[in-house]
Amino acid sequence: MGKTILVTGGAGFIGANFVKMILRDRPDDRVVNLDVLTYSGNLENLADVESDPRYSFVHGDVTDAKLVLDLASDCDAIVHMAAESHVDRSILDPRPFVVANTLGTQSVLEAARRREGGPCRVVYVSTDEVYGALKLDEPDSLFTEDLPLAPNSPYASSKAAGDLMCRAYHETFGLDVCITRCSNNHGPYQFPEKVIPLFVTNLLEGKKVPLYGDGKYVRDWLHVDDHCEAVLTVLENGRPGEVYNIGGNNERSNLELTHSILGLMGKDESSIEHVTDRPGHDRRYAIDATKIKTELGWAPTRSAWPDALERTVRWYLDNEDWWKRVRSGAYREYYEKQYANR
Ligand code: NAD
Ligand code: DAU
Repeated sequence: MGKTILVTGGAGFIGANFVKMILRDRPDDRVVNLDVLTYSGNLENLADVESDPRYSFVHGDVTDAKLVLDLASDCDAIVHMAAESHVDRSILDPRPFVVANTLGTQSVLEAARRREGGPCRVVYVSTDEVYGALKLDEPDSLFTEDLPLAPNSPYASSKAAGDLMCRAYHETFGLDVCITRCSNNHGPYQFPEKVIPLFVTNLLEGKKVPLYGDGKYVRDWLHVDDHCEAVLTVLENGRPGEVYNIGGNNERSNLELTHSILGLMGKDESSIEHVTDRPGHDRRYAIDATKIKTELGWAPTRSAWPDALERTVRWYLDNEDWWKRVRSGAYREYYEKQYANR
């Protein structure tokens, strides 16, 4: 007998890839996708599964406690991905991040606790940014699950508040919650505000790429398929109350990343525009993912560099219609046509 999984934020980048992975790799399972469709939520990302009888979409807000409770009552587990996700936007306007990421997480936890039929498992998809920043001159230091939380941006702080709320629901109410903390993802359907799709689509439009500060910032790049598989592993086998780091073993500076993208696209240094740095910019993220490997047997298999980057760049080259519609805002018409009158 399969399970019904409530996925929040399933129309976003990671959510859409995750929904498709479940429908493909778990033929007995069903997915209910709850998404409010902010600027980054795009039902076109799910066009190829929308008529699958094992998939349904609910247009709604994760902070709507009654709605989430109703949906949770018909589901066996919740994978909570809905969030405001972009650091730069959180610097411009922090409040929507507090509402969606902190209140939204509490609403999911409360629904899981109070649902008809008894409490269910929640996997909260958090981020490595809750640990703060590592130093460039300490290259051996890594984020481990037992580090104190030290978030620096409003985005990271609102996600860390979600982590703490998960801890509280586990400790106080005994709720079965797992937390995943993942490094930077790349792959198909990523909104072109994040660095890789932004740089690739800028170059395709003949524009320069805006590199922040000295470019000596380091991220640990993971292909989204690896992330989704790791979340599924935690959903199915994670121990209640545990935190699992997820990483790609693939640290690159932004300068290295930019040069790789320029090389793949036949461009040179003159396409770089050095711009003012992001305020509070975290220097380095690097994940120690030993725990998920030793406890659950998961390790990344699709993130090796430069092949993984090449596949991602190729996807944007091959899907010009998608990113042109997203960059122009035209993708929002899809929802109006397909769903608004249902
Ligand atoms: P995204 O911005 O592409 O997608 C977010 C989705 O959540 C969108 O579909 C949006 O409409 C939806 N959403 C936002 N607020 C909502 C609300 N109030 N109610 C219902 N739906 C809402 O983001 P993403 O990059 O796919 O990230 C997904 C999750 O993974 C987030 O929780 C993020 O913090 C986490 N994460 C992302 C990365 C990364 O590199 N992208 C890495 C680690 C963790
Ligand atoms: O580490 C996980 C996090 O990764 C996720 O939790 C976030 O949701 C996701 O957005 C991502 O955060 P980052 O801030 O690391 O990603 P972003 O793509 O915005 O930036 C990556 C690096 O590139 C960062 O050092 C800033 C730099 N950058 C970014 C942009 C958008 C530039 O130099 N120029 C840019 O225009």
